[in-house]
Amino acid sequence: MAVNKKILITGGAGFIGSHLVRRFVNNYSNYHIYNLDVLNYAGNLENLKDIEHKDHYTFLRGDITNEVYINSIFNAYKFDAVIHLAAESHVDRSIKNPLGFAKTNILGTMVLLNAFVSLWKNDWKGKRFYQISTDEVYGSLGATGLFKETTPYNPNSPYSASKASSDHFVRAFGETYVMPYVISNCSNNYGPNQFPEKLIPLFINNIINKKPLPVYGDGNYTRDWLYVKDHAMAIDLVFHRGKNHEIYNIGGFNEYKNIDLVKLLCKQMDKKLGRDFGTSEKLITYVKDRPGHDLRYAIDASKINNELGWAPSLTFEAGLSKTIDWYLDNKAWLENVTSGDHMNYYTNQYADI
Ligand code: NAD
Ligand code: TYD
Repeated sequence: MAVNKKILITGGAGFIGSHLVRRFVNNYSNYHIYNLDVLNYAGNLENLKDIEHKDHYTFLRGDITNEVYINSIFNAYKFDAVIHLAAESHVDRSIKNPLGFAKTNILGTMVLLNAFVSLWKNDWKGKRFYQISTDEVYGSLGATGLFKETTPYNPNSPYSASKASSDHFVRAFGETYVMPYVISNCSNNYGPNQFPEKLIPLFINNIINKKPLPVYGDGNYTRDWLYVKDHAMAIDLVFHRGKNHEIYNIGGFNEYKNIDLVKLLCKQMDKKLGRDFGTSEKLITYVKDRPGHDLRYAIDASKINNELGWAPSLTFEAGLSKTIDWYLDNKAWLENVTSGDHMNYYTNQYADI
């Protein structure tokens, strides 16, 4: 089929980005998908081995903060749309390196916005900038309530503040330069290909290796978990059918306290690994809390559900089981990414255990 749209996906070698790139390349042969990624510790082209040979897919290695490079690729390829995921994404790393997060997440987004506006400011027809954001921009909930699209931004970590700031710039470019944009704010994702520094893949890796499971504080923090392929499906819908200048919240309708999640994970893994029930729970180790730790995130996803008909396809138990199976079947992937930078980070972050 002839290509009628050129789409730039940034951060496409990372966790969510790779699932999105695969979905778009496999489902839309009328699009040319350009995947721009700097390949930091979380970016891995192994994630995309199955689609890299396709004619309507191109990988571009580059840094979104490099203005000269970004302007050159926008001028060369004339992207009709940008789906922007490239970011530094881990809260604990942002506490150690806030400036690095500001540079990539704020400045990098502005460089992309500038290039997009310079290219299309006289003719926006059929163009769109889609900013992939997080529920963490809303700050923390107490015991009750849900984040709505109208909830004021109130970020508490350098990561969430940098994402909030970049969202504001997207909105500001929409108002100032009439740039068509859409933003979605999603809850915690989990699934295959997630770098083992975030809770679920880190704990899967530690259970496999019988290492301690470092639960921050009392473990009573709550997150709303969504399987990554359901997020990719939601992004597809928002990209194609979402309204310009609108925000869509995406969540799993699935709140879990960390400690309950960890116990469920231990139970499922004991069964899959043929270990006695209770073996993995003994690895749970309570450690010093994360500074500024948000108590609870929970999303009201009724807008995307009512307007675009989106709903998660999997229960958490089923999604978690599929995720564990993927990591057990892909031990080489896990071993590959847990050398180098990961080991340095791990030794430093979890020095107490
Ligand atoms: P990730 O860390 O797995 O992937 C990020 C990707 O961006 C990596 O491939 C990395 O190499 C690339 N990247 C980083 N800096 C770059 C730069 N300067 N130039 C070009 N590429 C760069 O992150 P993820 O979990 O897949 O998150 C993707 C996006 O989704 C982020 O914007 C994040 O804020 C957002 N998000 C994530 C979650 C979640 O639970 N993981 C939830 C909601 C929103
Ligand atoms: P994480 O996966 O880092 O996502 P986020 O901070 O973006 O929500 O953490 C999820 C929850 O798990 C969060 O409440 C922090 C907690 N957590 C631990 O208790 N121990 C850990 O080692 C990690 C990485 C996270």
